[in-house]
Amino acid sequence: MNRIEVLPDQAALITRSLDLIVSKLKTAIQERGMFTIALSGGSTPRSLYEAIANEQLPWDKIHVFWGDERYVPPDHPDSNQLMARRAWLDRVNIAANNVYPIPTDEADPTAAARKYEEQLRRFFQVQTGEIPAIDLILLGMGDDGHTASLFPHTEALSVRDRLITVGKKDTEPRITFTVPLINLAHCVMFLVAGANKRSALAQVFAPIADDFAYPSRLIQPQEELWWLLDQAAGQDLKRT
Ligand code: 6PG
Repeated sequence: MNRIEVLPDQAALITRSLDLIVSKLKTAIQERGMFTIALSGGSTPRSLYEAIANEQLPWDKIHVFWGDERYVPPDHPDSNQLMARRAWLDRVNIAANNVYPIPTDEADPTAAARKYEEQLRRFFQVQTGEIPAIDLILLGMGDDGHTASLFPHTEALSVRDRLITVGKKDTEPRITFTVPLINLAHCVMFLVAGANKRSALAQVFAPIADDFAYPSRLIQPQEELWWLLDQAAGQDLKRT
């Protein structure tokens, strides 16, 4: 199921995404006893995380991962982990061992990617060659069409035999979910706001375009794909 919704403004976008997430969370917990979510970084999701923190939720049944991370210490202003902790996780009663930050203290980002992959395999009890199905993966999209830390024309876009790899923003290393891991999620939800995203969105939704130039095109989950856009970003697209 693919759904595109264009909301009047960013506040409406956040409200809609919150409602959808809480509904999916309750269903997953009812069906499987827990809910696994992978967070995106950047600026758009911050107010969503602040809104989630105000909800009364069964935090002991919620497990939080990150879909990507800048290769900086967890107290660095660019850290996606720091943003989510300040906006949400430090404000609710969620156990430390329900939160799985991406390690960024290995000498080599490749070792960190391997370590996070092992953490995911252990949590989801999947062997090498198997891919776990995360309940919900939140994604943003850059104005170049990147998502997570899958940047245009980088090697990370072609990794198919791992769950986690090293992405590159110019020369800056990042740790990122791979395309296969994202596409196996039960639900993938893009939150995209701002007029600066319009032209990349037009390419992402074009019938024909270079997937490696606009990596968000590679995100084709087998189950649910939601594109939640504000009017500024999505005004040229038709709703589905
Ligand atoms: C990151 C994100 C990245 C982000 C997009 C959109 O680490 O920055 O994971 O993929 O989602 O760059 O960022 P904005 O929401 O700030 O536009």
